[in-house]
Amino acid sequence: MRYPVWRPAVFACAASLPLYWLYLGWQFALGPDPGKVLVDNLGEGALVLLLLTLSMTPMQRLTEWGGWLAVRRQLGLWCFTYALLHLSGYLYFLLGGEFSRLGEELRERPYVLVGGLGFVGLTVLAMTSSRWSMRRLGKRWKKVHRLVYIIVIVVLLHMLWVVRADSARWFLYAGTGVALLLLRVPVVAAALDTLRGIRGKSGRKLK
Ligand code: HEM
Repeated sequence: MRYPVWRPAVFACAASLPLYWLYLGWQFALGPDPGKVLVDNLGEGALVLLLLTLSMTPMQRLTEWGGWLAVRRQLGLWCFTYALLHLSGYLYFLLGGEFSRLGEELRERPYVLVGGLGFVGLTVLAMTSSRWSMRRLGKRWKKVHRLVYIIVIVVLLHMLWVVRADSARWFLYAGTGVALLLLRVPVVAAALDTLRGIRGKSGRKLK
């Protein structure tokens, strides 16, 4: 496939947002607790990128256009990058680099542990996202990458624990996540294909 022109656009958007937030923090425009806002924004950004990554395959099924898949890996790697920055921001701004407090933190805020599980999952996916890993793992690659479904649920739980009272945003993300997961259920996916006449038209089963 030709080099997708929107790959640089994805790069520019994903790279510039954290820089913009940093700039706002530098300008004292993120409120009284800029570190917390930065950590929240990066966490929310990671979740949005995770959902976007998950929506690429259904978009391909719906439109039969391969361009969606061309940026799937890129979005996934940006999701991991945001999560890494979110974790670094947490350790630096919220924990103040006092790693000895980590045990106490995990007891007081169990959602940190849940976020950690999500991060470990994302690390596995990022580390096995290369073509080399795809070739090495063969059929097992798909099985490993099904981990993304569990990660979505884990991360949504992590966010719910944090936002609690302010759950309108959470419902939006959870609704999107559930819809995207349902689209992966074989019966639903097949019904969608039939509905769109994809199989009938092209005679080939899409990934
Ligand atoms: C070791 C890994 C992680 C740690 C230690 C961690 C820690 C935290 C903390 C402390 C907060 C609350 C910040 C506050 O006081 O407002 C938070 C919020 C959040 N985190 Fe994480 N997190 C981790 C992984 C993740 C991952 C992997 C994702 C998404 C892919 C994520 C998404 C979020 C979201 C969406 C919020 C809520 C942001 C908001 O209130 O707008 N976190 N996380």
